[in-house]
Amino acid sequence: DAALDMFGEKTTARWKNPSFARIMNSPDAAGDMAGSCGDTIKIFLKITESKINEASFYTSGCGASIVSGDMACELSVNKTVDQASEISGEDILTALGGLPEDKTHCAHLASSALQEALGNWIGQK
Ligand code: FES
Ligand code: FES
Repeated sequence: DAALDMFGEKTTARWKNPSFARIMNSPDAAGDMAGSCGDTIKIFLKITESKINEASFYTSGCGASIVSGDMACELSVNKTVDQASEISGEDILTALGGLPEDKTHCAHLASSALQEALGNWIGQK
């Protein structure tokens, strides 16, 4: 199966059944980012007293952007805004156990969308 060859077992399972893929109603913060491929990832956050209680994402992009958005959310939940501002594309890649070379930019797109959401939240306060 092509997805298995590309992603390995764990990430294929995440791609088939992402935990955080949904549009959130009335998020406290949201941010989206478009990659040079033209696809976008949007991240939604619920934040109470500078702690991220909930995260979700939506993407128009490829399978790698789905697993990257999902991992960005997973890494953000229960973190403070400060801690989540440190989550990089490399962190997402590491947590996913890597992505094919031509798909690593999707992890960076997910972290940019997360940083955009956090920046918007900080800017609103
Ligand atoms: Fe466009 Fe992955 S989101 S290539
Ligand atoms: Fe598509 Fe970066 S160019 S995710």
